[in-house]
Amino acid sequence: MKDEIKRIAISTGGGDAPGLNAVIRGATISALNRGWEVLGIRDGFNGLMFPERYEDGGIIKLTQKKVAGITHLGGTIIGTINKGNPLRFPIKDANGKWKEIDRTDEIIEAARKKEIDAIIAVGGDGSLEIASVLADKGMRVIGVPKTIDNDLEKTVITFGFDTAMSFATQCIDRLHSTAEAHQRVMVIEVMGRYAGWIAVECGIASDSDVILIPEIEFDIDKVVEKIIQKEKAGHRHALVVVAEGAKPLGGDYSVITSELGRKDILGGVGDKVAKLISEKTGKESRTVVLGHLLRGGSPTAFDRLLSLRFGAAAVRALEQGYRDVMVALDPPIVQYVPLKEATSRMKSVPLDSDMIMTARNLGICFGD
Ligand code: F6P
Repeated sequence: MKDEIKRIAISTGGGDAPGLNAVIRGATISALNRGWEVLGIRDGFNGLMFPERYEDGGIIKLTQKKVAGITHLGGTIIGTINKGNPLRFPIKDANGKWKEIDRTDEIIEAARKKEIDAIIAVGGDGSLEIASVLADKGMRVIGVPKTIDNDLEKTVITFGFDTAMSFATQCIDRLHSTAEAHQRVMVIEVMGRYAGWIAVECGIASDSDVILIPEIEFDIDKVVEKIIQKEKAGHRHALVVVAEGAKPLGGDYSVITSELGRKDILGGVGDKVAKLISEKTGKESRTVVLGHLLRGGSPTAFDRLLSLRFGAAAVRALEQGYRDVMVALDPPIVQYVPLKEATSRMKSVPLDSDMIMTARNLGICFGD
């Protein structure tokens, strides 16, 4: 039998992605139309864990008015956070040493006190892992796959990716003319964590010469060979797209910071690649790090539509009695997949995919 739902809560966790507000709107209006009350938990699950930190007690009542005119807005009206993961919450022990503890029971307890019958958790692998544990502990949870990195299994695409990839492409288009005018090598570092989706797709779409991704360790000499070859053919500039998670042969990721309770912050590989290219070719090389620009701004029409569909589908899932699934795009439909399956492994760019083959057919070098 399906348990009756009176009140649901929405949480947005992890790095923000264009489309979060559209999911909030899709879910809120669909739920209000079923007579349910909708709450927004502030900053991931912090609104439930630390209500004393907020003037409004950490909870925002989501009404028709609150979600009006937000589909096109970047960010999230309820806030998000990507540190202090409640599954591995950092605290100091009696000896002053840092350790990590699981605080998900506190979230369940706080949700029960607020008479929340179900949670729609919008997030990437980290937030969906938390969602899955909450579901194991008895909470009704529906996950919605968000990340500009597109690295979640079981959905053809996550919302936020299309906007990030399209904007990166526009940026590289602009760098073409200046690279050509100055006969420079432009190295463009893009986000994507340990997956190369953004780099591969914006690299192909912008006619870049080299794409370096975490899935293929690169040999800098192969990159140099490609640039020299291009020069011999009469083109004295080059565009090199580097995913932040790209690694040299036998080398490691470039990490900016490592902190307890959060994932490593990657960055810096673009500069390293540019420096090596300069040293080995004598050509002037510059780095542009697109970084958080890829996370901001208005979602593309594709991402708005996907997000609204995901939000509405999450509410339909709850109505149909689901309690531990993620909504997923399986064109032409949005379907439901077990939360655990969605977070069990990362979705990398398959090396035998049409995307990689297309790039190779176009003469794009992966540094291998
Ligand atoms: O997961 C999304 C993402 O933007 C990654 O591409 C990037 O590595 C990371 O988040 C950056 O996180 P922060 O906002 O903490 O710098």
